[in-house]
Amino acid sequence: MDGRESERLPADLRRVLLGEEEIRRRVEELAARIDADCPESAGPLLVVGVLKGAFIFTADLARRLRRRHVVDFIAVSSYEGGQTSGNVRLMMDTRQNMEGRHVLVVEDILDSGCTLDFLVRSFRQRNPLSVRTAVLLDKPARHVLPLKVDYLGFSIPDVWVVGYGLDYDEQYRTLPFIAEMRPPEGG
Ligand code: XMP
Ligand code: MG
Repeated sequence: MDGRESERLPADLRRVLLGEEEIRRRVEELAARIDADCPESAGPLLVVGVLKGAFIFTADLARRLRRRHVVDFIAVSSYEGGQTSGNVRLMMDTRQNMEGRHVLVVEDILDSGCTLDFLVRSFRQRNPLSVRTAVLLDKPARHVLPLKVDYLGFSIPDVWVVGYGLDYDEQYRTLPFIAEMRPPEGG
């Protein structure tokens, strides 16, 4: 963490969990691994960012890739309410066809795992050459489904985080760092 980042922290944020520089370095490492794993001869990699939370991670990761790639986005929403958050709904599909291509799903955070599980299963039905996953943050304590992430940024504790694409009620997405929210008073 960096002192200047804590100084300008809004009152409802408790602390900076991951600083701008730490995120930048990790994203660079992940991009290098993706480059190394996926040969150019396989054609352009289809990078699919999951809106909205992964929009900044997707942009930064894709700009670090040296291999050829194209960027697309998908939007999903999970039904709220109770523990059974296994219902994931497709709100906006990709424009690119996945058939015969290597696909990289880029997600902001793994919580129960339902969203990523839904996406990977639905993408596999579209006859891609491969489907891999890049996830910036993981909350291992919250997993409901056992999932294998190919490129993981950071494991974090079970706290609500915002910044670098992540929000609380649509706020804080454009903070350059990732911060932990202060739990509501008396909550
Ligand atoms: P599942 O349970 O499907 O959830 O793995 C993944 C989605 O849950 C949201 N999520 C968060 N969003 N801060 C956020 O801004 C968080 O701490 C957080 N935890 C879960 C997020 O939309 C993610 O895609
Ligand atoms: Mg999300």
